[in-house]
Amino acid sequence: MLHTPPSAREKYLYLETFGCQMNVSDSEKIVDLLKEIGYRLTQDSSQADLIILNTCSIRSKAEHKVYSQLGRYRELKSLNGDLILGVGGCVAQQEGERLLKKVPYLDIVFGTHNLHLLPEMVRAAETGERSAEVAFIDGEIRLDLFPAVDAGAEVSRFVTVMQGCDNFCAYCIVPHVRGREISRRSADILSEIRGMAKRGTREVTLLGQNVNSYGLKSSGELDFAALLREVARIDGIERIRFTTSHPRDISPGLIACFADLPKLCSHIHLPAQSGSDRILSLMNRGYTRGDYLAKVASLKEARPGIQITGDMIVGFPGENEDDFAQTLQLMEEVDYADLFSFIYSARPGTRAAEFDDELGRREKQERLAMLQSQQRERTQKRGRSFVGTCQQVLVEGNSKRGGQLTGRTSGNRVVNFPGDCTLVGRVVGVRIARAYPNSLLGELI
Ligand code: SAH
Ligand code: SF4
Ligand code: F3S
Repeated sequence: MLHTPPSAREKYLYLETFGCQMNVSDSEKIVDLLKEIGYRLTQDSSQADLIILNTCSIRSKAEHKVYSQLGRYRELKSLNGDLILGVGGCVAQQEGERLLKKVPYLDIVFGTHNLHLLPEMVRAAETGERSAEVAFIDGEIRLDLFPAVDAGAEVSRFVTVMQGCDNFCAYCIVPHVRGREISRRSADILSEIRGMAKRGTREVTLLGQNVNSYGLKSSGELDFAALLREVARIDGIERIRFTTSHPRDISPGLIACFADLPKLCSHIHLPAQSGSDRILSLMNRGYTRGDYLAKVASLKEARPGIQITGDMIVGFPGENEDDFAQTLQLMEEVDYADLFSFIYSARPGTRAAEFDDELGRREKQERLAMLQSQQRERTQKRGRSFVGTCQQVLVEGNSKRGGQLTGRTSGNRVVNFPGDCTLVGRVVGVRIARAYPNSLLGELI
């Protein structure tokens, strides 16, 4: 008699991803790994046999979100005793084994270097065993654990070029939860991109916490500017982006790429974090306001019209009115196309967590509101300046609004326009008709 053993029954994975693109990329890898032991992705948490939260710890709010989600899944667990619950990513790395104690109904805790152990841990959990694995893996051996070439065929894809961060900015938890910086081998990166290009990818975004220091610590490896030049030689790849850049490590060679490589998009995300030298020094950023502005000027000279975006932290311990005024002034001088801004959040184990933080919550919120309202105006003004112009748009797919296509300009503005889906994957000319706060509306030329 034929029958299906229980282990061969289709099992469902519900996966929630928080935080940055690193986690999004790790989540792709998690899906691949768990597929191999029979788990299929579901969008319905009540159907799940396994729920995994891939978490972020960058600010305390992100960490709190994890605990509130876990609270929700506790109810599902009380309805289904076999449901397995796992936490990965940066909160898992930060808390380790402690998390199993804090959350008694949790089965699995896996750190940012331990994705490859997950199938084994899930199998153990299927037999009722709880486990935590958060050891860092340093050196060459880690390179073999990087996400394998996957079969994605999207028009635009992220490609991890390095992991970890050695910068230890005083406020930041990333070096503590992602471990030491390591660059992938350029040969692996280039062959992965060649494969993507063959499958239809037209744009790649090279990804790392600090891409500008790519290769510098691996002997005989290309540096980041040389890597960009090699990527630009790949047939089929029409656009190249990268994120994130550390202002200290922007080299003249990298700036020259903006002058020489037409495939390199006219956009750079260059977080300043503050406009005050005193605060930048306390933050351990390794550059002054003057250094930052000089690099911005060189970038604008190398690529006229380049769109510069950034990140800013307000209310860093010790930030006074004058420091804050300098931040606003820097924003004006750079004329950011867009800006992400955050209230400083003390993170466990970081140097700034030991600093006296005397500024009240209300003052910090007022500073943030002022900064954001100034930037909102600047962003909208920039948007309106595109109305009537013709932009080259790489069509990425259908927009959320039915019947329209969506893509981005070289400067990274989202453009929606009516058109046929056969245009997906092509660069087309679009005349901009209207500017909305987060996108442009246009028509095909
Ligand atoms: N590696 C990138 C970004 C890391 S995190 C870089 O170096 O630019 C993304 C942003 O979160 C940072 O640029 C910073 O603006 C913000 N951030 C990081 N730690 C923070 C903290 N403790 N409080 C508030 N904002 C923080
Ligand atoms: Fe954090 Fe600084 Fe590293 Fe960016 S460069 S991840 S802000 S420590
Ligand atoms: Fe968050 Fe970790 Fe990314 S802390 S921002 S998910 S590296």
